[in-house]
Amino acid sequence: MAKPKRRYVCSACGSLTNRWQGQCADCGEWNTLTEEAPETVFSARHDLSSGGRAIAFEPLDAPSEALQRRSTGLAEFDRALGGGLVPGSAVLMGGDPGIGKSTLLLQAAARIARTGSSVVYISGEEAAGQVRLRAERLGLAGAPIALAAATSVRDILTTLAQMPPPALVVIDSIQTMHSDQIEGAPGTVSQVRASAFELIRYAKENGVALVLVGHVTKDGSIAGPRVLEHMVDVVMSFEGERSHQYRILRSLKNRFGPVDEIGVFAMEGQGLSEVGNPSLLFLSGREQPVAGSAVFPAIEGTRPVLIEIQALIVRLASGATPRRAVVGWDSGRLAMLLAVLEARCGLNFSSAEVYLNVAGGYRLTDPAADLAVAAALVSALADKPLAADAVWFGEVSLAGEIRPVAHSAIRLREAAKLGFASAYGPGEAGARCDGAHFTALGLLPNLVDRILGAA
Ligand code: TYD
Ligand code: MG
Repeated sequence: MAKPKRRYVCSACGSLTNRWQGQCADCGEWNTLTEEAPETVFSARHDLSSGGRAIAFEPLDAPSEALQRRSTGLAEFDRALGGGLVPGSAVLMGGDPGIGKSTLLLQAAARIARTGSSVVYISGEEAAGQVRLRAERLGLAGAPIALAAATSVRDILTTLAQMPPPALVVIDSIQTMHSDQIEGAPGTVSQVRASAFELIRYAKENGVALVLVGHVTKDGSIAGPRVLEHMVDVVMSFEGERSHQYRILRSLKNRFGPVDEIGVFAMEGQGLSEVGNPSLLFLSGREQPVAGSAVFPAIEGTRPVLIEIQALIVRLASGATPRRAVVGWDSGRLAMLLAVLEARCGLNFSSAEVYLNVAGGYRLTDPAADLAVAAALVSALADKPLAADAVWFGEVSLAGEIRPVAHSAIRLREAAKLGFASAYGPGEAGARCDGAHFTALGLLPNLVDRILGAA
């Protein structure tokens, strides 16, 4: 038999190599490659003359059971999950430390437990006393949750096997779990993978909804194993600026529903509260019209959220290189928009510092933000406030055209609902507008004329 090959696995990204190196060639982290036990099972040749059983094929349209979902008791959590937890499924919940993962899961676990279903909460990071203290602070101490501090997967599965399968098992966090099936310290890729595999198998066999908390690395991906993301059914990320109150729960992968749906929460003294109308949260504090502020109707999944974009332009007297600083948007996109404004509209930003901020610590990825950013920039440059009751949306091309974007009708409806009387956007959106007064803008110079009052 051939000698089993040595394999090295990166504990940061999970990539495999045949040779040890100081730096991982895939993710660039140093000293993360460790040797992994060779998987001789896979190198053994299959003998097709014996063993195996023929599998039965099924047509795609065979009747299947409707998906049963269990509400978490938190409407925003359910929304992000695509309707609730699916029994027999595994959810991976990632997020920065201290963002509120344990708080969210404890709140959901308590609500489910109070409906009479059994819930198991295993904490590998905190002692049971700490979790109990948090529950007291949240006013949930009376909820019938089965709580334990444990890190051995074997102990956990042995315990679970002795009781009727609970409705929900929370493992906080998967990086602290240890499986004795495999060598290595908790948190290494092979340990995380093996622990998750055993827990997920238990969940699938017993129809239990399993939620695994996962740590997040500096760059925001779920720490260690990308493989973990492949093993689970749903990957969620809990995000937000720790200095800000609001938190967004986003689904990044969902085998049972749409992705990009978000749930919005606010972290308060009594734990996380649900924010049914996020636009109000992000727009709060806008009183007098100020130059450089524009409201953008963004879309998160299927949900509209109004967001304020702020621009500040400072003219420089000297010939120093002016700064461009962006918070919450792509800096490359800002550079592009400034170039289009210069080239197509004759505006001059080259001797001015440009600062752009998305209010509330929100991160915008919607391409339709271009027009609102352009409106904020032109308003700041001219020192003319935009109408306080206007929203702006549309994608800007390099030629300076304002391009149509998805979900115009939803954006307009949300703006009208919150009392915005006028909306500016790409040409064809007007036909579908019902609430706000809509003005179609075809080219970026039309926007500039309108703001500068020439139109
Ligand atoms: P936690 O759920 O422990 O975060 P994670 O599990 O993601 O690491 O939340 C920790 C933070 O939340 C902590 O810094 C304090 C804050 N917090 C509140 O503001 N209010 C509360 O009621 C609770 C329980 C926590
Ligand atoms: Mg925690």
